[in-house]
Amino acid sequence: MATCPPGPAGARFPRRPRPGTPPTPPGTRPLDADKYENDPELEKIRRERNYSWMDIITICKDKLPNYEEKIKVFYQEHLHLDEEIRYILEGSGYFDVRDREDQWIRISMEKGDMITLPAGIYHRFTLDEKNYVKAMRLFVGEPVWTAYNRPADHFPAREQYVRFLAQTA
Ligand SMILES: [Fe+2]
Repeated sequence: MATCPPGPAGARFPRRPRPGTPPTPPGTRPLDADKYENDPELEKIRRERNYSWMDIITICKDKLPNYEEKIKVFYQEHLHLDEEIRYILEGSGYFDVRDREDQWIRISMEKGDMITLPAGIYHRFTLDEKNYVKAMRLFVGEPVWTAYNRPADHFPAREQYVRFLAQTA
């Protein structure tokens, strides 16, 4: 695994998980990040969810051009008009998402974890104190990376997500 010198801390500390947070859902087989190039479980997810496009990004001072700037952009609260799908292959980091009461929930992401953030959810990403993550980015069709910083409540994707939250209350 590549190593990077420690960077500035600050936002990069763990928060306690919510009590009762369930582990991997029943009936779900774990992904094997060491075999991501030939993992039938990953292929199944991609096929079922139509994740036709993918690439791999390494977020690390020595490997990512404009690292400092990108880190700030990732940590700015924003939304997308499409799903954001990430699969951690090495290293770790945190996704923060807003809950129903508009409070942050910190999601710890480690090797083998996959997350799908729905279109219209406010979120942000940060590395942790290890300052290194290698992740697969997946997308339905051609990727669109545009991030809309908060406030971005006027987008139909946001309105749809808010309606979804209301229905599941
Ligand atoms: Fe994002």
